[in-house]
Amino acid sequence: MPDPDIIYQYFKKNQTRFPYLRHDPKFGPRLYLNSGAGSLNVDNYYQQIEKASFSLIPMPGQHTVPEMETASLQQQVRELAADFIGALTPEEISFHFSTTAALFNLAYALRHLFQKGKNCLVTDLDHFANISPWETVASENGVEIRRVKIGPDYMLSREDLLKKLDENTVIVALTAASNAFGNLVPLADITQEIKARSRALVVVDAVHLAPHAPLDVMEFGCDFLAFSGYKIFGPMIGILYARKEHEHLLRPYRVETNKPKAPYFFEQGMLPNLALAGLKGALEYLAELGSGFPTQSVSGSLSRRKKFRLSLELIKSFEQQLSGYFLERWKKDFAEVMKVYGPADQAKITGRVPTFAFELAFKSPSEVKKLFWEKGRIIIADGNHYSAAVVRHLGKPAINRVSLAHYDDLSSLDLFFETLEKIIKHN
Ligand SMILES: Cc1ncc(COP(=O)(O)O)c(C=O)c1O
Repeated sequence: MPDPDIIYQYFKKNQTRFPYLRHDPKFGPRLYLNSGAGSLNVDNYYQQIEKASFSLIPMPGQHTVPEMETASLQQQVRELAADFIGALTPEEISFHFSTTAALFNLAYALRHLFQKGKNCLVTDLDHFANISPWETVASENGVEIRRVKIGPDYMLSREDLLKKLDENTVIVALTAASNAFGNLVPLADITQEIKARSRALVVVDAVHLAPHAPLDVMEFGCDFLAFSGYKIFGPMIGILYARKEHEHLLRPYRVETNKPKAPYFFEQGMLPNLALAGLKGALEYLAELGSGFPTQSVSGSLSRRKKFRLSLELIKSFEQQLSGYFLERWKKDFAEVMKVYGPADQAKITGRVPTFAFELAFKSPSEVKKLFWEKGRIIIADGNHYSAAVVRHLGKPAINRVSLAHYDDLSSLDLFFETLEKIIKHN
């Protein structure tokens, strides 16, 4: 990896790509530390939507120019999304209302696998989007649900997972990164072990990892994977990867006249063309982000798949600087009043994204959120984040969370800690 200072300066300059960050004439600088709930949109997202507004029509087709342009956009976005995650073909990509909807659609499409005597594994580290669909289909069909625990180190317990897995397991639903604690799941290793011991299908929720590190479905060895456009600087839309070899297993809801094959049979009704145009804008931005990096003179000749990887590797490296700084400042000055949940070891920084769940000793999460806004104009999160890590593992109704993205920087964190200081003094 190149010099960390060069990476840092590169991402500082790149902040101009995010219009929200420009000064608010009334309130001054804007700070957004809630990317886990949805990222800011990149300029190219707005530009592509505006462009599409003047040319697209609802119905794709092959005989008129506007219809062809619409069909072409849909195909281009499928290809971009396939390259983004390393899918072998765009036919493995389908579009849904959201990731939650995509996973409900998938669970329904696989319901015939849920037969008496079978079981299904979900984890306490996951967002409920990758739990409730499986628990619903399992309970309707009398299939046992087994919940994989989180260990005392906040990591998903591999031991518990392997203990609960057996030859009757049909689905293992796993997250790639916790949207509460920020820690990663070593997917490639775990999937390999799952596949060596069972015939279970592995379904990965990559929503929280997608803006922070390269996704690679081949490396992960998963059968299905979902991510959301609005977590990667684009629109509200869910993207589902379904490995081509499993097409024959899928029995989705579909109207009789829809094409009876992947990916179309998964898509109910007309596609949201403007959202697709926005997704194109966000994905093109991510493909090209690394190409402008000073020492990447060869990147022009790279395949788009490699360009995505390069950009996301740079983001990962930059964000590790942010995580390191957050943990350092927290440990030095605030560890007594602020409890951080999740791995907080500097030596394990590569095993996390910059998402930190925390609690202040003297205030409720909703008061803390309000005070960050009032005293620093900073947006952070409170609530359960739809995360089983909060609801089931910690057994708490709510917790605060700071979650950063590559448009934040060290001064964002300085402002966060200055505001925290004010909140503590205000108490
Ligand atoms: C880890 C994770 N999975 C799934 C989802 C659900 O995504 P969507 O809102 O697209 O259904 C979220 C949304 O916050 C999430 O953070």
